[in-house]
Amino acid sequence: MTTPESQRLKGRVAIVTGSGRGIGYAIGECFSREGAHVVVAEIDRPTVAPAAEHFSSLGTEALPYPMDVGDLDQIDQMVADVVARFGHIDILVNNAGLSNKASFLEMTPERWDEVQRVNQRGLFFCSQAVARQMVAQIPDSVKQAGRAQTSYGKIINISSIAGRRGRADALHYSVSKAAVITITQGAAMALAPYGINVNAICPSVVPTRMWIDLDAAMGPPQGLPVGEWYRRRVERIPLKRPGTAEQIAAMCAFLASEDGDYITGQTYNIDGGSELN
Ligand SMILES: NC(=O)c1ccc[n+]([C@@H]2O[C@H](COP(=O)([O-])OP(=O)(O)OC[C@H]3O[C@@H](n4cnc5c(N)ncnc54)[C@H](O)[C@@H]3O)[C@@H](O)[C@H]2O)c1
Repeated sequence: MTTPESQRLKGRVAIVTGSGRGIGYAIGECFSREGAHVVVAEIDRPTVAPAAEHFSSLGTEALPYPMDVGDLDQIDQMVADVVARFGHIDILVNNAGLSNKASFLEMTPERWDEVQRVNQRGLFFCSQAVARQMVAQIPDSVKQAGRAQTSYGKIINISSIAGRRGRADALHYSVSKAAVITITQGAAMALAPYGINVNAICPSVVPTRMWIDLDAAMGPPQGLPVGEWYRRRVERIPLKRPGTAEQIAAMCAFLASEDGDYITGQTYNIDGGSELN
């Protein structure tokens, strides 16, 4: 799939968490082609500089920023550093996430907390810190009027179709992604008077390292050869194929652009027909 080089995000500053690889990398690449300066906010240090170098090669200025979205001090420091570098923040994509499998009966508090810390707590406090900055950027006259006639920021949260229904083999992950949908709705209402749009996306199966790890954890214990558990999972998708990271990125670019100015509080499934709403 080709990404349109329409420069819909020209001059915008976008923080993309977890953009060192996978879906986040595709979002960073797409946003850079669309003209945005991308902050690579990523915990996996070896991936940060190469991702930022690649994004910069597409014509904008990318900022490598190793950080942990679960650490509130690091979030605040990142917002301050990004503002010091670029002067403003226009877009946040909360993409960083963890997934692992654990049955209901075998769930441990440690596994539960590990996933919530990143997927919902990190997402909430990144949103809060960036939204505070976005609000600070709004002219006083607009704030006093109590309504904005245009968009003053875009927040896009990556949830999952696992957040649409409880999953027996990964309830901690389901809960974290359901929380993302709820946070999206609440944040959208809280930030609507400021003209800040908040929306979410639910992918189903996009072949990233997350699925390689899940296949390795789930298949062999059931006596399946490597890749077979993943293949069976894809077979359950009505369109009978996985999605691509570029398709998720394209939706993010649409929501982050002026084309998405009148959309807020919504959650979109990009899932080959797996969930219907
Ligand atoms: N791949 C899929 O099929 C799929 C389906 C539904 C939802 N999702 C969601 O999409 C998002 C991206 O997933 P992916 O498939 O690209 O997975 P991935 O594991 O390839 O990428 C996740 C990225 O987030 C980073 N990250 C993890 N913890 C972090 C932290 N504390 N601080 C900063 N960065 C952190 C990782 O280092 C990695 O670069 C996740 O939120 C995931 O839950 C993915």
